[in-house]
Amino acid sequence: MKPFIVANWKMNPTTLAEANRLFNSVARGLKNIKNVEVVICPPFVYLPIFKFRTKDFILGAQDCFWEKRGAFTGEVSPLMLKNLGCNYVIIGHSERRKHFKETDDMINKKIKTALITKINPIFCLGETIEERKGGKTQKVLKKQLISGFKNISESLILNSKFSIAYEPLWAIGTGNPCDFKEAQKINLFLRKFIAQIFNNSLAKKIRIIYGGSVNSKNATFYIKEAKMNGLLVGGASLDAKEFIKIIKGI
Ligand code: PGA
Repeated sequence: MKPFIVANWKMNPTTLAEANRLFNSVARGLKNIKNVEVVICPPFVYLPIFKFRTKDFILGAQDCFWEKRGAFTGEVSPLMLKNLGCNYVIIGHSERRKHFKETDDMINKKIKTALITKINPIFCLGETIEERKGGKTQKVLKKQLISGFKNISESLILNSKFSIAYEPLWAIGTGNPCDFKEAQKINLFLRKFIAQIFNNSLAKKIRIIYGGSVNSKNATFYIKEAKMNGLLVGGASLDAKEFIKIIKGI
């Protein structure tokens, strides 16, 4: 499995000119990159502009709705994303859970529709600082996994490139990343638990990636020491030089 690096631009940049500049700088820096699979997830509005502009990385979205079409004001269908050349979609990011009150049930429906539409989900989970301090990390992750995978068939997952992003909330945007050893423990725990829900061979196929204050100094350790299959990069993906450094350092 090639390391899988996902850029989550979140609600940035605010002008098309800046978005183009960032996209072009990343594209120049990553020309002919072969040993890493890179996905850029810009805000929805930039997707049609970036479509087919590079062969060196893949486009992804930051969210999608669970219905394919209809009277759902403001929502974006996974079918629309598919038609814009998106191969991946981030689902259940903690910012969506927090600010938009996304529940485990909504996240499960989104995962299901994304899989049916043949867009590969990047399913985010993670614990809060209070849950961590209370020794509840594994319990929280188990609950998120069980609900996320509810009524989802093995074959749907096997026919996708499914990723789970472990993103502890206390590490996102804080400059306080998860310790590598702790990340490795969580990695093993998640894989074992997925094997219990499904089976070993399916668990091996799912990519487990890490997100939370990743930068060019710590990125390689998550891959080499914590044995993560990749990274979900927020803030550092808005700085083309830093993002390219992360990828080239792996
Ligand atoms: P960060 O964000 O890299 O800025 O911590 C990661 C994320 O929210 O996906």
